[in-house]
Amino acid sequence: MTSTQDAATAAAAPGTFAPAPGDEWWRTAVIYQIYPRSFADSDGDGIGDLPGITARLDSLADLGVDAIWLSPFMVSPQKDAGYDVADYCDVDPIFGTLADFDAMLARAHGLGIRVIVDLVPNHSSDQHTWFQQALASPPGSPERARYIFRDGRGENGDLPPNNWESVFGGPMWDRVTEPDGTPGQWYLHIFDSSQPDFDWTNPEVREQFRGVLRFWLDRGVDGFRIDVAHGLIKKDGLPDYTPPADGDSMGGDDDDVPYWGQPGVHDVWRDWHEVAAEYDGDRALCAEAWLPTPDKTALWVRPDELHQAFNFPYLTTEWDAAPLRTIITESLRAFPAVGAPSTWVLSNHDVIRHASRLALSGESPQGEGIGPLSAAQPIPELGLRRARAASTVMLALPGSAYVYQGEELGLPEAVDIPDSARQDPTWFRTKHEKYGRDGCRVPIPWEASAPAFGFNATGASWLPQPASWAEHARDVESRDPESTLSLYRQLLAERRAHGLGSATFTWLDGFPATVLAFRVDDVTVIANLGDSVVALPEGRILIASEGFTGRELPADTAVWLVAD
Ligand code: GLC
Repeated sequence: MTSTQDAATAAAAPGTFAPAPGDEWWRTAVIYQIYPRSFADSDGDGIGDLPGITARLDSLADLGVDAIWLSPFMVSPQKDAGYDVADYCDVDPIFGTLADFDAMLARAHGLGIRVIVDLVPNHSSDQHTWFQQALASPPGSPERARYIFRDGRGENGDLPPNNWESVFGGPMWDRVTEPDGTPGQWYLHIFDSSQPDFDWTNPEVREQFRGVLRFWLDRGVDGFRIDVAHGLIKKDGLPDYTPPADGDSMGGDDDDVPYWGQPGVHDVWRDWHEVAAEYDGDRALCAEAWLPTPDKTALWVRPDELHQAFNFPYLTTEWDAAPLRTIITESLRAFPAVGAPSTWVLSNHDVIRHASRLALSGESPQGEGIGPLSAAQPIPELGLRRARAASTVMLALPGSAYVYQGEELGLPEAVDIPDSARQDPTWFRTKHEKYGRDGCRVPIPWEASAPAFGFNATGASWLPQPASWAEHARDVESRDPESTLSLYRQLLAERRAHGLGSATFTWLDGFPATVLAFRVDDVTVIANLGDSVVALPEGRILIASEGFTGRELPADTAVWLVAD
């Protein structure tokens, strides 16, 4: 039976969704995102590194993850925390060396953990040799043709070529000074001015990245997370575009945005699919593509393209049963319909941690961040309670789930970072109007009473850690059976034991509209998103996101039930 027939069969049985066929590891994997700057710091300089990761991998094996994804650790001036790459095939000295990478990979594989690395193909750093060569070469030269250089508008070319606004704020164009000292052409950067966009219609750019893929695949990586996978191709003629006032700057809107989701990107992914297929084992390609619906996102994971795409429509759905029911249904229909697993994610290094986001007292659009003066402030106890319930739902869903470092500790967003410590380019480019993403990137706590909570031995930390994080330290939570860490360990162990990653999913009827109720094979999941208690159906409570007595499920609580 083809995957299309599978989808048709699933559609015929209301509320029941069968997983897409296939036994590749990434279809069901729980993948843990390591943000290397903030995970573990072996040399005490305040920035995490690869040997730090290697030394702490045991704790991830203990947690029960299948794979790790490392945010970029390649050579970079760190203008955007490593998402500005100056050399794609070497490790930045702040993170270690290629030998440290190999040691980390070997240790992870020894523990049965696969390793995915982050690849940033939309743009390089302005310190990349190619961009430096472009600056030193004349307009129209092959060196300039690797990036997007254009003449300016206006009499002297002193206006940008179009009206596009950078995701981080300000114009998407910067003007260069030509080698002879005269004001020159403009170059395009969707993000910071230190992150010039490549021209992906240039075959040389494509060939360079085939080489980068092979470099890491030859070293033994199990796949790639592909940064800004919806941005590589820009619409012909670069027409003016003004996004909606309340729009999502990363591209989650319905509009035909001339720099997001242009059809030409799919040729690039077909090409990369073939490169990955040259290697043995199941090497996985996962798209970071901010698109408005699962159906649109599924176009990135058609059979000859990428394998997974982050389910951002799920991440951005509020804590409300009706829209969650819709997005889960749409995801379980749309991705298997093209033969791909659905993925699930609640937090990452770009969004407000879900232990805060799910209980914000007001709106805070994606990328905006929160700080001490934000109108929207998180309610900590409510946020943690909802986060635990939300994770208990997410980790029961069939497909592959992503967990961001620290969420297994129930970490909230760090709100009170002093202005002087902030580092996100969004903070600077919006002239301090938007806080940006520093609050979800603070180094994580390992030991409550050690310097920097065990992040390193010196106490240095590139972003300050809130004192209240002592109670979230891994050593404290390890000893507490009620902790969020204990909950995640249980969720991952039972998810594996019951094969939930490849389970058939069925919605259950007969519950209030504020409840999510479904079966995944032999496990029944009930989540109460309403204000009143809900009577539980039959079954032994296998896992509960909060302790409670009796058979009435409290508000903002989720359980997994099994037959006695
Ligand atoms: C992606 C990354 C984000 C980065 C941006 C530019 O969205 O996740 O952290 O700033 O790309 O590379």
